Parts: sequence; structure tokens; C-alpha cells
Amino acid sequence: MDEALNPATPGPLHLEHLELRHFLAKMAHEKGETGDAARLVARLLDAHMHKEETFVLPALAVLPRLAEGRFEPAMADAIAHAEWLKKNLAELVAEHRAISAGLERLIAAGRAAERFELVEFAEKVLNHARLEELVLYPAVIVCGEYLKHNLETTVELGR
Ligand SMILES: [Fe+2]
Ligand SMILES: [Fe+2]
Repeated sequence: MDEALNPATPGPLHLEHLELRHFLAKMAHEKGETGDAARLVARLLDAHMHKEETFVLPALAVLPRLAEGRFEPAMADAIAHAEWLKKNLAELVAEHRAISAGLERLIAAGRAAERFELVEFAEKVLNHARLEELVLYPAVIVCGEYLKHNLETTVELGR
């Protein structure tokens, strides 16, 4: 299928998810508290990121074209992603809270073991979740509302 008709998660966001998961996958082989905390975070993040990449983030792929003032019927997929997000926003935010609790555990374990790269990693994931809640999730919803309005207007005007 034409990628433009079936947009996936924008590349840089997908790459960021991959990098976070890759770091945790390496950590998960460790014994002790650092390994336990990393395995917990990895389990929670895997399911959460899969949901984001399947149901939410593909909506953002239409943003560059929207910014150019383009409206195409195929963009309607983004409306469905935005609607899904509105219905499931509380659940995704609750998942962020659970992930954050796991990250706090990883930070404590990292500090105790003087493994400051773990603390740095955990801060990076916390910031990723904040970015989603403050910028990316709202952008998905605004994108859906904007498209809904403009595609309806386009159809009404027969353009
Ligand atoms: Fe994410
Ligand atoms: Fe997230």
C-alpha cells in the first residue's frame, strides 16, 4: 500500500522508541536490582509503545502536509487515531505513571550502584513521556479536529 495512504509513525519518533527499548534490552540481562527495575520498565514500555505506534502516533505523519495547506481524503485515518486517543488518553497517562514509578526504581538502583548512565537514561524516558503528554498527544488531537473540520468543509463545498 502507498505509504502516503497508510502513514506510519514518523521516523524520528519510531527511532526514539527503538533506542529506548534497545538500551533496556541490554540492561535486562543484568542481575540484581538494576536488572529487575530495567525488566519491569521494559515490559511496561513495550506494550505502551506498541499501542502508541499502532493507534496514536501515525496521525502525526500528516502534519507536514497539513502545514502546507494540503487536505487529502486519505488523511482521514488521522481522525480515527485522534478519536482513539481521546477515548484512551486516561489509560495512556496512567501507563506513563506506572512507567515513571518503574523509572524511579531504576534511578534509585542506578544511584545506589553509582551507575549514573541509568539515571540519565531514566530521565530521558521521563522527558519522553512529558513530551508526549504536553506536545505530541495534544498535537494528535488538534490534528484530528482540524482535519475533521477541513475535510467536512471541502466535501460540503464540493472541492
Ligand atoms: Fe512513546
Ligand atoms: Fe508514551
